[in-house]
This record gives sequence, C-alpha cells and structure tokens, in this order.
Amino acid sequence: MYGLKDKRILITGASSGIGAGMARVLAEQGCRLVLHYNQNQSGIEKTLADVKKLNEDVDILRCDFRELDSLDAFFQQAWKIFDGLDGLVNNAGIVTKTVALKDPQGEKFSETLAVNLHAPYQLSTAFAQACIDNGQGGAIVNNSSIHGQATCEWFSAYAASKAALDAITKVQAVEWGQYGIRVNVLAPGVVPVERTDRILNQPEMEKKWCNAMPAGRYGTTDEMGHATAFLLSDAAQWMTGSILTMDGGLIARGNYPQR
Ligand SMILES: NC(=O)c1ccc[n+]([C@@H]2O[C@H](COP(=O)([O-])OP(=O)(O)OC[C@H]3O[C@@H](n4cnc5c(N)ncnc54)[C@H](OP(=O)(O)O)[C@@H]3O)[C@@H](O)[C@H]2O)c1
Repeated sequence: MYGLKDKRILITGASSGIGAGMARVLAEQGCRLVLHYNQNQSGIEKTLADVKKLNEDVDILRCDFRELDSLDAFFQQAWKIFDGLDGLVNNAGIVTKTVALKDPQGEKFSETLAVNLHAPYQLSTAFAQACIDNGQGGAIVNNSSIHGQATCEWFSAYAASKAALDAITKVQAVEWGQYGIRVNVLAPGVVPVERTDRILNQPEMEKKWCNAMPAGRYGTTDEMGHATAFLLSDAAQWMTGSILTMDGGLIARGNYPQR
C-alpha cells in the first residue's frame, strides 16, 4: 500500500505502545526492521514475535538513551544489521508528568530532554551523515505529541521536549533537503497503550477525554503505525518539515479536560 517493501527502518522504543504498533504495521508493509528497546525485555520479545509472523527480517537492539555517550555506537550497530537504513523513526520517549514546583533542580526536566530531544537529535544527525556518505536519501519520522503545540499542567518538561523536537524537525528538514533526506513529525493525541490503558479505560475518564475530541474516541497504535508508514513512503515525497497531527480533533477544539 505504501511502497515500503524491503525498506530498512530503525524504530526506537518498539517494546510497547505506539512503537510496537508501528513495528507491526511496517512489518505488514514488508519493511526490514531494527527494533530498539531499553528495559522492557518481555515487551520487545512480544513485538519481535508479532513481527516475525509477518516478516523474518527483523532484529532487536538495546540502548538506554539517558546515556548519551552510547548513542553513536548504538546507531552504527543498527546501520550495520541490514548494511544500511532507509528510514529512522524516533519514537522512544518518556511521558514525564510533574509539576515544576516538585522538580526545582530540574532533574526530571534534564532526563526528559535527554531521552525525548537530545537522543533523536543525535540519532537523526548520525542517520543523515550516513545517508550523505552513502549517496542516498532517507526519511525520518519524529514521534512528538500534541503537547508540542498545546499543553496543560504537569507537562513543562514533556511539552518543552516535544515543542523543541518539532522545532529541530523543521531545521533539519531545511538543512538536509538538499541531500534527499526528509524529516517530519507525527504528533499523536491520546492513544491508550499498556502504560495508560488501566486509567484511560475507566468509564469516567473515557467519557471526559472522548467528549473533548470531535472524533469521539481515542486513537489506536495501528493508526499511528499507518501515519508513520505514510510519512516514510514516497506518497509523502514532497512533505518535509511538517507536523502530521493525529488527535481526533482534540487541539482543534482547544479544550483539554481539567486534570
Ligand atoms: N500514548 C500516547 O497517548 C502518546 C501521545 C503522544 C505522544 N506519544 C509519544 O509516543 C512515544 C511512545 O510512547 P508510548 O505512549 O507508546 O509509551 P510506552 O509504551 O511507554 O513506550 C515508550 C518507549 O520508549 C522507550 N524508552 C523509555 N525510556 C527510555 C530510555 N531511557 N532510553 C531508551 N528508550 C526509552 C521504552 O523502552 P523500554 O520500555 O524498553 O524501557 C518504550 O519502548 C513517546 O515518544 C511519547 O511521547 C504517546
């Protein structure tokens, strides 16, 4: 459907949630996948088993993105698995919820920026350099969030990381367009994942959120996978430096439920 057969794609944070959904959808499209995880060994094994039912060309790699010194070696390993990569999906992230007054020294703030912003910056730069050195183009998808555009209480670290990710996406798109490298953002709204299922499926919570969304329901990890497939594909060839918001209309209505 997206013309992605045999494309070699690195997806970070594929051990659960949206990253696992992206892996399943991209495997269905015939992509060869390098799947990254950090701590969730059983999660990545489940994603791997799901993907293998669709496509045997898949491998996994572990890295803690708080250890920024390890990122270059991690990327080089990922690049070598299929002798190159055609796409990079920067999906791994920490959804930090904290009020600023409880993080006065900014420890959570710094950790959030390391994983959600510095790691994608460094991985994208390594990917672009490798593409340039090999005389090939490439596509990068940065999984940001609607919090990059409109936010609320508890999210100063998270929103700062995602707004900055949106910003560097535009700068990198401008810098790398000349090399045939496209960089875009996927900005999801509320998508239940293992981490949030229990809370979001409580009837009162579901009613509150779904009433705030013109589409009247949560998003799914499969929908995020299809949006990613589109952004990686030639159907989006003229799209770079853009933000694809997928939120059921939540921020268009501009009405976050009160926390
Ligand atoms: N779900 C939503 O409603 C929603 C909405 C907007 C944006 N997003 C974005 O979607 C992305 C995925 O989130 P999710 O909701 O699917 O949550 P999730 O299931 O908790 O997935 C987070 C992923 O990030 C990885 N990760 C966390 N800390 C890491 C670290 N220090 N180093 C390397 N990897 C790390 C996790 O790896 P391990 O578990 O293996 O450690 C996991 O694979 C995030 O960037 C998030 O901001 C989610």
